[in-house]
Amino acid sequence: MCGIIGYTGKPDVTASLIGGLEKLEYRGYDSAGIALAVRGGISVIKSVGRISQLTDKLKDVKLSASCGIGHTRWATHGKPTEINCHPHLSFGGRCAVVHNGIIENCRELHKLCELRGITPVSDTDSELIAHLLELNYDGDALKAVRKTSEMLKGSFAVGALFADRPEEIYAFRRLSPLLVGVGEGYTCLASDGCAAEAKDVYVMGDGQYARLSPSGAEFYIRGRRAAVKKISGFGTGGGGKEGYEHYMLKEILEQPEAAARTIEALQTKRLRGELLMLGCGSSYHAAMSAIPLAEQCTGKPAHAITAGEFICSVRTGGRGRTAVLISQSGETADTVSAAHEAEKRGWTTFGIANVQKSSLTRVCRRYALTHAGPEISVATTKGFTSQVAALAAMLATGSLREEVRKLPFAIERALNTDDAAAAAELFKPGRAAFFIGRRTDLAVALEGALKLREITYIPAFGLSAGELKHGSISLIEDGMPVVLIHTDPALKDKSLLTAATVKARGGTVIAVTHDEEVAAFADLALRLPPVHPLLSSAVSVVPLQLLAYHTAVRLGTDVDKPRNLAKSVTVE
Ligand code: G6P
Repeated sequence: MCGIIGYTGKPDVTASLIGGLEKLEYRGYDSAGIALAVRGGISVIKSVGRISQLTDKLKDVKLSASCGIGHTRWATHGKPTEINCHPHLSFGGRCAVVHNGIIENCRELHKLCELRGITPVSDTDSELIAHLLELNYDGDALKAVRKTSEMLKGSFAVGALFADRPEEIYAFRRLSPLLVGVGEGYTCLASDGCAAEAKDVYVMGDGQYARLSPSGAEFYIRGRRAAVKKISGFGTGGGGKEGYEHYMLKEILEQPEAAARTIEALQTKRLRGELLMLGCGSSYHAAMSAIPLAEQCTGKPAHAITAGEFICSVRTGGRGRTAVLISQSGETADTVSAAHEAEKRGWTTFGIANVQKSSLTRVCRRYALTHAGPEISVATTKGFTSQVAALAAMLATGSLREEVRKLPFAIERALNTDDAAAAAELFKPGRAAFFIGRRTDLAVALEGALKLREITYIPAFGLSAGELKHGSISLIEDGMPVVLIHTDPALKDKSLLTAATVKARGGTVIAVTHDEEVAAFADLALRLPPVHPLLSSAVSVVPLQLLAYHTAVRLGTDVDKPRNLAKSVTVE
């Protein structure tokens, strides 16, 4: 998703900006650019594609500057072209901006610009902010910033340069996060904790604006100096690949330790009562996988829906009930909005995130952290298993608590029995595949299908094994791979019947199971170690992650940064 970086007071600001943009790369992007405060104006250099394409362009430009802003863009308004890429310059070249978020009144502002004789050149809402800043600028930059932010509706985090203030960066935000780091002789701006490299980091409040100079930052709200929250020891991003070809593989192999750290840290925390679990993508699957365990251990009904659906749902009050908001990054806009909405509706909010100083942990009344460590691959693996481990640690009661402590060893064993490379041969580009299961296994089926879709672009569908016969079975033909997840002994007859139904129509059954009979009946089996059926999702997902990984490597796709995807989606 879009990322913002800015530095003032760096002798070679271009290098610092590129370093910052590289730290933001993990969020996913399709273009990148920087604006530098140079003698006599602002220089903007941008490029579609990777940061390396931007650095190639920079080789031909010799610019010396100590202050600048940069951006990685993930297209929302307008295609990923160089014109739509940030930073955007204002009509007179006096201001440059980078923007995260969505301006909801952009049509109105577009008209306003046209009335003033300004014709925007890009398709973006962000460009309009640059024009407004110049229109509102009469030599008082703070005033221009305040006036401009008051004209905007929607969500925004903005970094701006003024050509006649070459040592200053201006910043303002609403709903989208923005951090300011103050270091020795320099100050930085970042939309993300991974990029805010400074000992002292300040979290800009909603509606605040700031002036950054090499010696520090001043923060304001509605014309007055504002207090800001200072935090320290910010995450520094995620190390290197340590010899692995891809982050995804490295992170898959880190799962036993990540789960162990998480379980250890959360042993004494408890989740009780009637729970509604919310998340997006894989985090939603983690929520779903925990329903049977939650119902068993709390004795109350538990539900899971996607955060995006919750925001749009009928406004049911949650008094006396807990909304559990799950997000690896803690920055997913749908999940953060759902947390705000749940608070408003009277739910007790409980966040589960992998990043301590994230928007989600700030919004929720209580939170617990997963201890997966930084996750760089866009497709989550250890983030997912840590969420499942966290839920298990906080929900399990009685003898199940001992079973939870065994999970990291079971994950380790699942990693060591890697038949996934052979199974990967069965998946072909453009040829659909099904992932099916029931109860907890259904959540894993959805996650397995998502993993395969995300990184191989193969149309993979996850669905309840019981639903297959109600329509989707019409897709089954000779050789179509159908991955059947079976971990619950109580469902064995049903699993065998489903497998027979698939085989009778020519489908190839790949069983993910510890059960010998189910494995023998399937065309191919990915073996699991024995694990309690209420806790199995952290283990049964492992062969599916490996299956997606090996298929992607075989097909030669960009494993860690699949097309169109962003690591954290910061727009609703
Ligand atoms: C994006 C990613 C998914 C991820 C989802 C939720 O859509 O591409 O892989 O599961 O966001 O991310 P979160 O950080 O909230 O867990």
